[in-house]
Amino acid sequence: MQEQILKAIEVLKKGGLVVFPTETVYGLGADARNEQAIKKVFAVKGRPAHHPLIVHLASLEQLNNWAVNIPESAIELAKYFWPGPLTIILQKHPQVSNLITGNQNTIAIRMPRHPLTLEMLQQFGSAIVGPSANSYGKISPTTVQHIARDLGNKVDYILDGGPCEIGIESTIVNFTSNIPQILRQGSISAELITKVVGISLTPNNTKPHNIRTPGSSKTHYAPSKPLYLSSSIEFLNIAKLAIKENLNYSYLSFQKCPTQNKHVIWLQAPDDPTLYAKNLYAYLHQLDVLNNQCIVVEMPPLQPAWTAIIDRLTRASKGKISINNNALVIES
Ligand code: TXA
Ligand code: MG
Repeated sequence: MQEQILKAIEVLKKGGLVVFPTETVYGLGADARNEQAIKKVFAVKGRPAHHPLIVHLASLEQLNNWAVNIPESAIELAKYFWPGPLTIILQKHPQVSNLITGNQNTIAIRMPRHPLTLEMLQQFGSAIVGPSANSYGKISPTTVQHIARDLGNKVDYILDGGPCEIGIESTIVNFTSNIPQILRQGSISAELITKVVGISLTPNNTKPHNIRTPGSSKTHYAPSKPLYLSSSIEFLNIAKLAIKENLNYSYLSFQKCPTQNKHVIWLQAPDDPTLYAKNLYAYLHQLDVLNNQCIVVEMPPLQPAWTAIIDRLTRASKGKISINNNALVIES
């Protein structure tokens, strides 16, 4: 373990790129004080320059090097959830490179809790930028195999930390507006934040003021094959009809596959949202490599525990699939 960490640090110090594990998804790391290295991150991901990066820290003490005018409530929240799947948006410190923040005066910061990465950050002593380690707009990686398929040989070192524990990206809370607001849903819900630190948040349907969050673009986290969402009620009928008509679809459902036909690609998902989230990107990666036309996903229940998952599925999808008069209807 120590050898892997030393190697990763050596690469970071030379301005190279290190893929690192976190509890959410794998990140594409570079020294946050090295502009050449930061530029490489954007180039390798194919990410537009104005889409800002998250800075990853190993300790709360480092916060003041990266942000200014930090509200007490932000500190409280960080103290409660860090290290963990929470990113906070603060006013940026004047010394932070504009490359990181996409020329905005705000900065996104988090402290991840994967032990390998925490150790690497501690020994590195400074911070690293870390977008998810996938090409722009594609599915985030939650295992090193996913990285091999996508960015693979474009990075200098991969720190293998096994499958990610949570599976979807951190919750992002903006503290630069009057009332804090969730900009990206994650495993830490608004209800939990309000419960543990007593902060009330701006409702989600309010458009964030003057702030860009590319992860909130309508299509994101998308597989290369089109993904369509179906209501739970219609799902089996849609699948049966598509199977009968020999359509090359693949399926992600809570229900059992209605046929014994071995050519039908069907993943049965767990009813437990935590387990579902952990495996969500692995399912999408799995359904995406196949020689199929599209992926049909059964909509999870509209309950708070599923909010972040529904958010990611909706962004991954090209539209809806339904059934009408025994015909399939796709609305893109
Ligand atoms: O779980 C995670 O957060 C993972 C792991 C690797 O830490 N990282 C991640 O990074 O998801 P990325 O780059 O894929 O997504 C970062 C999100 C984007 O939606 C970006 O717009 C938002 O954070 N963001 C970064 N800086 C921001 C800023 N200054 N203001 C508003 N949003 C910001
Ligand atoms: Mg991402």
